[in-house]
Amino acid sequence: MKSEATQEELQAGRGYEALFVPAVFAPWPAHLVDGAAVREGSSVLDIACGSGVLARAALEATGKSGRVVGLDPAPGMIAAAREVEPQIDWVLGSAEKLPFDNGSFDCVVSQFGMMFFQDHPKAAYEMYRVAKSGGKLAVAVWHSIDKNPAYRDIVAVLDEHVSPEAADALRLPFCLGDPDQVAGLFSQAGFDNIEIKTKVEQAKFPSSRTMVEAELRGWLPLFDIFLSEEKIGEVLEKSDAKLMKYSSPSGEAVFPTSGYIITAQKSE
Ligand SMILES: C[S@@+](CC[C@H](N)C(=O)[O-])C[C@H]1O[C@@H](n2cnc3c(N)ncnc32)[C@H](O)[C@@H]1O
Repeated sequence: MKSEATQEELQAGRGYEALFVPAVFAPWPAHLVDGAAVREGSSVLDIACGSGVLARAALEATGKSGRVVGLDPAPGMIAAAREVEPQIDWVLGSAEKLPFDNGSFDCVVSQFGMMFFQDHPKAAYEMYRVAKSGGKLAVAVWHSIDKNPAYRDIVAVLDEHVSPEAADALRLPFCLGDPDQVAGLFSQAGFDNIEIKTKVEQAKFPSSRTMVEAELRGWLPLFDIFLSEEKIGEVLEKSDAKLMKYSSPSGEAVFPTSGYIITAQKSE
């Protein structure tokens, strides 16, 4: 795995931290810190840590006597995370092959990364392997796109005005919408006391244009989908009409996002 982030990757990581974290991800770490019972002195692994919003919340809960590790395969995310909080141990790696010994962590957490893992059973088993006996797991996953209507609206615009491939790229984060299926993966990996809780949090972007443009310019290129300026203008115009219903009086786009938190334990 490549270790040094290019300047472009670092900018992408910083951009994620500056826009997406406050807009979408910031309300969720509290559920995971609570779900995995992170407390003073805990050792915590945050898998798919991105720019580190959950790992930072875990550090607040563990205090100086704990140990927090954030792991992600994207060098730009890891570099951006390190800039924000150098005290956390930031590690490049993937969920399917965790570079840690068996039984290393009291708490294993992961927020909205699981949908992107290549091998879900393997990742679930790796989470089990690195947890200590009695260790806790908390994982956040988006519900299906039907329960996330603002994204369903943008997907409809992409389907109609760009391509099925572009629409599918935006559907991907919502591909694990069946909580029982995901719970089954953790059960097969060996975890006990599995619980699923639905949570709804408000997302808030500076405007609907900011939100859609970030997807068009930031997300689609990850799938080798590059739109012309003319096409971007057309999609923004069409989505303005669809997303108007989420506009606050001050012009922000405010809408509910629905996910579920799976918690579980590795038996003593
Ligand atoms: C939507 S971001 C979530 C980041 C962070 N947890 C948050 O809440 O802001 C998804 C993250 O999953 C990471 N990811 C993708 N595939 C992965 C894999 N196989 N193993 C671990 N992380 C992965 C990506 O690099 C990205 O940082």
